Amino acid sequence: MHDSLSATASMRGKVVVITGATSGIGEVAAQRLAAMGARIVLVARDRTRGEAALERLRRGDAGLAHTVHYGDLSRISEMKRLAVEIAAAEPRIDVLINNAGALFGSRQVTEDNLEFTFATNHMAYFVLTQGLRERLFASSPARIVNTASDAHKGRVLDFEDLQSKKGYAAVNVYGRSKLCNILFTRELARRWSGRGVTANCLHPGFVATRFGDGSGGLLSYGVRLAKTFAISPDKGAQTIVYLASSPDVTGVTGEYFYQCRPATPTTQARDDAAAQRLWIESAKLAGIET
Ligand SMILES: NC(=O)c1ccc[n+]([C@@H]2O[C@H](COP(=O)([O-])OP(=O)(O)OC[C@H]3O[C@@H](n4cnc5c(N)ncnc54)[C@H](OP(=O)(O)O)[C@@H]3O)[C@@H](O)[C@H]2O)c1
Repeated sequence: MHDSLSATASMRGKVVVITGATSGIGEVAAQRLAAMGARIVLVARDRTRGEAALERLRRGDAGLAHTVHYGDLSRISEMKRLAVEIAAAEPRIDVLINNAGALFGSRQVTEDNLEFTFATNHMAYFVLTQGLRERLFASSPARIVNTASDAHKGRVLDFEDLQSKKGYAAVNVYGRSKLCNILFTRELARRWSGRGVTANCLHPGFVATRFGDGSGGLLSYGVRLAKTFAISPDKGAQTIVYLASSPDVTGVTGEYFYQCRPATPTTQARDDAAAQRLWIESAKLAGIET
């Protein structure tokens, strides 16, 4: 593990937008980056949880005007509205951390007719990033950090069935959404190269967070048991903080990290044709031009 994390890197004057920071590794990452001087812009879905997270951040340094925007990241209209609101409020965004994610025990569809895991874990990263594009370009050098997972291992994308209509196995569908995170990161790095915005993703390790608690039934029970062997959110957040702040990764883009070091994802996650196709399909589903 990289232990020089960074008391050394200053984030003073930087603005960090982060999703999924009302708990788990996102919250720890937000706290750490705030302690390094960053002003944090939270994206949360629940007002009570959002205000509580904001309050905990503000306790750290009353001088930093941390804020929160509310929206449900499983709905395309909300992803777009959030991006518009944040772009209107923030003239510059130095770091965007796409981190909100969940594991769904059974197949459910969103109001956009998308399967929930795909919508929340992949489409929200895609749409929010597109919506904040101009702010990120204007803030060059800027960084995008996408929380992915080793759960992508052994997964293959089926472009004929991105919404898992043919069959639903929760862990497999979750793993595919994390494969999407890596493919999205690679394609983003390729398309935005030369724009002064880097994009990297990471595996945080298996972390004892609220992850899986709401998945339901046996799945929640299984995840809870497995968490006995999990690392702490403090440890799990380290690579997010590293990618968001360390001078070591200035200019590094399109990579997958684990324990603050580059790691090699699977062949499927390094398939550039799949990455391009996923980008095109996602843009179509979101109804946006990229
Ligand atoms: N825990 C692990 O072992 C592990 C391993 C690999 C990767 N990851 C990834 O790490 C990321 C963070 O997970 P975590 O482990 O920290 O879990 P967590 O404690 O459950 O945190 C998930 C966060 O995402 C937010 N979120 C979920 N659905 C949302 C939605 N529709 N709209 C807005 N926000 C939403 C949650 O908000 P609420 O507070 O409102 O619920 C919460 O802040 C996820 O992308 C996950 O896939 C986790």
